[in-house]
Amino acid sequence: MSATTVTRRRHRRRLLPRPWFLAVASLVLLAGCASDAPQDMLQPEGSFARTLDNLFNPIFWVAVLVFVVVEGLIVYAIVKWRYRGDADDGVADAGEMPAQLHGNTRLEIGWTILPALVLAGVAVFTVPVVFELNAEPAKGEALEVDVTGAQFWWGYEYPSQPDFGITDGIVTANELHIPAGQRVYLTLRSVDVIHSFWAPKLNGKRDVVPGRVHNWLLEADEPGVYSGQCAEFCGVSHANMRLKVVAHDATSWDAWVEDMQEEPVEPVSGLAAEGFELFQQRGCSGCHVVEGAYDEVAEDAPAAPDLTHLFSRDCFAGCIYDLNDRNELEAWLRDPQRKAGSKMVVGQLTEADIDALYAYLETLE
Ligand code: CUA
Repeated sequence: MSATTVTRRRHRRRLLPRPWFLAVASLVLLAGCASDAPQDMLQPEGSFARTLDNLFNPIFWVAVLVFVVVEGLIVYAIVKWRYRGDADDGVADAGEMPAQLHGNTRLEIGWTILPALVLAGVAVFTVPVVFELNAEPAKGEALEVDVTGAQFWWGYEYPSQPDFGITDGIVTANELHIPAGQRVYLTLRSVDVIHSFWAPKLNGKRDVVPGRVHNWLLEADEPGVYSGQCAEFCGVSHANMRLKVVAHDATSWDAWVEDMQEEPVEPVSGLAAEGFELFQQRGCSGCHVVEGAYDEVAEDAPAAPDLTHLFSRDCFAGCIYDLNDRNELEAWLRDPQRKAGSKMVVGQLTEADIDALYAYLETLE
């Protein structure tokens, strides 16, 4: 066996990926294949998300085609003109410069115009979608909700709009309630840093930049619960800034609206009444509004969720804890820092305080 043959073999073997690399690559690929992922934007469940999906699909395949052609040419060139030792085979030998293409006008014009044409083709389909998704619906045509992004939770305010049964504004947090089959027009603001509102099955992402006002549309075909999350890194608990969109049928929408417009009854006796007092004494009312009871928060208070109808929700603290599990809320009162970066500051509470506060909070339905 000559020295040249040995060199050639070694070069050839290096062109094939190692088995471990193939195994890891397939694992990474397959990890994206859940069939029922709750935040799968490729399974839209509303008109706006579908519009985006209809745009995504053809453009994805155009991108695949470009990828295959470009990568194919690169791989072809690497293999065909690879160095095979100094031989008389038309390939540059060690120390030699290969033939250069610089200044080849035809090629330069070609690879400038071709990508521009591809992008212009993509723009023909993209631009109308950009306008469609940013169109402002006529007054009364869509449910209006003011959304506030804060470290690390979402607030929602529904101004009065009799067309949707709301005659006396509604304020809630983390869970956005909407009527199914109807358009929802969000007006988004941030109180601190950049967040991004994202309910993947109902529409794409919309960044929420402090000092600016943004709008976004949502629509869910069917009643159901759609999960989402903040999609812009906003601090240590960015990953804990989740959200839920609850879409109702007509009957349950009316019921929700009616419940939300009723003021909770102030407890007058028992543990709940003790909790009601503690809510002020321990400083909770300095940041959290409970309509009709604690309407004013401290001037320098950090933004905090409105608790008027806390127990109408299923989750709290950026929708990462289950409100139906008593232990979760008690653990939260013991230590709000269990969620990193939480702005909630509460002094040391005794277990008796926590029981009383829980009893009161539970009345806020
Ligand atoms: Cu808010 Cu990430």
